[in-house]
Amino acid sequence: MSPPLGTATRDRLRIAIQKSGRLAEPARKLLAACGLSWRESRDKLFCYGESLPVDLLLVRDDDIPGLIADGVCDLGIVGRNELDEQAGARARIGLPQAYRALRGLGFGQCRLMLAVPEEWDWTGPDQLRGQGTRIATSYPAILGNWLDAQGIDAQVVELSGSVEIAPRLGTAELICDLVSSGATLAANHLKPVENLLDSEAVLAGPASGFDDARAGLAQMLLRRVDGVLQLKERKLLMFNAAQEALPALERLLQDAGPLVRLPGSNGVLSLQTMCEGAVSWQQLEDLERAGARGLMVLAVERSLA
Ligand code: PRP
Ligand code: ZN
Repeated sequence: MSPPLGTATRDRLRIAIQKSGRLAEPARKLLAACGLSWRESRDKLFCYGESLPVDLLLVRDDDIPGLIADGVCDLGIVGRNELDEQAGARARIGLPQAYRALRGLGFGQCRLMLAVPEEWDWTGPDQLRGQGTRIATSYPAILGNWLDAQGIDAQVVELSGSVEIAPRLGTAELICDLVSSGATLAANHLKPVENLLDSEAVLAGPASGFDDARAGLAQMLLRRVDGVLQLKERKLLMFNAAQEALPALERLLQDAGPLVRLPGSNGVLSLQTMCEGAVSWQQLEDLERAGARGLMVLAVERSLA
């Protein structure tokens, strides 16, 4: 039996992630890469951590900030858009900050944008001044703050979904919604005109830290997350070369890390260097022409900085 959700002091860490949707799969992959594994419960809403005392709660993304605020979950993987919206909504009614983004996770990128019908000539936010314009959105707090900052008095029409259809239904003139590929906007004859927020998935936690066993667990998890994020595109490049070829090879590798020389034999040096980002076939061929032999590109599996 798992302990009741909502217990104040705990020695297990509980992480909320999206049950299904864009962030669900990459979130699980990231946590698995951090060495976590789970025994899935039959309803699959609660996954009991096996490798570490870290459990998963599978929920709607919109519920994640609230679960952290209420202390039901300790951490969550959620879009910055959702976190900022709910933080903004709390601030607008005078509630204290309850959560914060601990790390950007490099997936789930999208932008919260103002979009107008394709046929509009958009000249800038000033166009909305004094027009009594209605803007449909699921992000009333972020939009409200943006409008306040611009000194624009537009009417915010809050919708929980299918925002893109509002202009055609006549419930609003324009919209403010998430744009990823832009396909949904295009399909609804809308065009993006103002960017209100660059969003991606973040690891969120409570505004105040933990004062029990969860503190150490959270710290360990963060360190592993950092390790995984850093390694994402890191490659170890290994090759052999004669001493004379070294200056030319160093020129080709000036963007890589320091070139490490390992003891070789018969005057041939054994060399390795860490490259940030992918190493292309073109780069390997250039290195070979400059005298590198036995070129090998290796993925880095784990590292602790
Ligand atoms: C989001 C957003 C847009 C769409 C944009 O919805 O609300 O409708 O994605 O993506 P695109 O630019 O690639 O077309 P999502 O599918 O996340 O569903 P939700 O709004 O119901 O959470
Ligand atoms: Zn959603």
